[in-house]
Amino acid sequence: MTKKKILLIITGGIAAYKSLDLIRKFREEGCDITCILTKAGSEFVTPLSIESLSENRVYTDLFNLTDEHQMGHIQLARMADILLVAPATANIISKITHGIADDLASTVLKATNKPVIIAPAMNVQMWLNESTQRNIKILKNDGINFIGPESGSMACGEYGEGRLSETNKIVDETLDFIKTYYSKPLKNLSAIVTAGPTQEMIDPIRFISNESSGKQGYAIANRLSQLGARTTLISGPTHLDPPIGCNFVNVKSANEMLIACENNLPSDIAVCAAAVGDFRVEKLNSEKIKKTGNVLNLELSENVDILKSIGTRNSKRPKLVIGFAAETSNLIDNATIKLNSKGSDWIVANDVSDGKVIGKNHNEICLLSNHGIENWPKMTKSEVANKLSQRIVDHFSH
Ligand code: CTP
Repeated sequence: MTKKKILLIITGGIAAYKSLDLIRKFREEGCDITCILTKAGSEFVTPLSIESLSENRVYTDLFNLTDEHQMGHIQLARMADILLVAPATANIISKITHGIADDLASTVLKATNKPVIIAPAMNVQMWLNESTQRNIKILKNDGINFIGPESGSMACGEYGEGRLSETNKIVDETLDFIKTYYSKPLKNLSAIVTAGPTQEMIDPIRFISNESSGKQGYAIANRLSQLGARTTLISGPTHLDPPIGCNFVNVKSANEMLIACENNLPSDIAVCAAAVGDFRVEKLNSEKIKKTGNVLNLELSENVDILKSIGTRNSKRPKLVIGFAAETSNLIDNATIKLNSKGSDWIVANDVSDGKVIGKNHNEICLLSNHGIENWPKMTKSEVANKLSQRIVDHFSH
């Protein structure tokens, strides 16, 4: 195995002292680590401690003749497998967003053709500041990756979001990113993922829907795409940004979602994570329904079950069909019925009682298949997506 090459950019915040621990941990994992230290960063850690731990030259100046001669800034920007900015201050985040290149760190970040991961660390108010949040959104859209920040107590005595993620987490996620980015284990496969709620119109301005946020389905589509699958995300209305790299199809009703799924077959993998509305109004009112002082009766008919229609197809059935089961009671019994009746290979079952899951960031699931039932501990929806996607990789590599 060749050594993973990491270019660590250390900027000037109190969390900069943790970069020394990061260097040590990356080296323990067998990585070759080279560092750029900004002027502000050098107020917190010294070039000497970085060089001693990394056993590589530390770079600080854009206009240093010796450095430019040994390794020019363009070469520095290209030699690594990944650029990791940790800790990343609000200032460097602003500079990257706006393309400012006025020192070595920002110039290298602009000149690189390699993936960039940012691990922010700043005071909670600086993190929540509108300009920071605007910048983060732009950078995410540009395909920059983030680790953290986390919530907790801060060096300045305040409490909230903005803490640098734990160094173990940064190391694990960076190495995992490099592995998937460069190997792309699903690169020969395609996937469709349904996500979010559907909306069933009652009249021109009213609809029946549900509280699904789409977070779990979006996280799955994002991960499958990162792993190299040609991924189509078919989504009902949500407030989320479509993941980078996915083909995105926006739908409203269950029927539109069904048609979009059929239009995107054949596909190797189908993950039905959408909270599809089970019923639609039989007779759609073309005019806004007026109050009459009486009870309003709506006649509802059942929508087609998209998962079932995909799982039980005779032709173009995906090789792996995965459904979800949202239950408020008898989780395993009800999920087992869905596994068997909908022609799905796996069911991801979750207990959605008491508002535990829908719209939230965490999920606690059981994975059901013909091989049995697995209980997964409570984790974030993106962790569920990563673990499920890894299962998909394992499935296709056997
Ligand atoms: N599903 C679907 N099309 C529907 C209804 C559900 O594709 N019209 C899919 C969901 O995306 C999910 C699975 O079926 O993968 C189970 O959905 P769930 O809401 O848990 O159950 P339902 O099948 O709707 O049954 P019930 O509401 O009676 O529990």
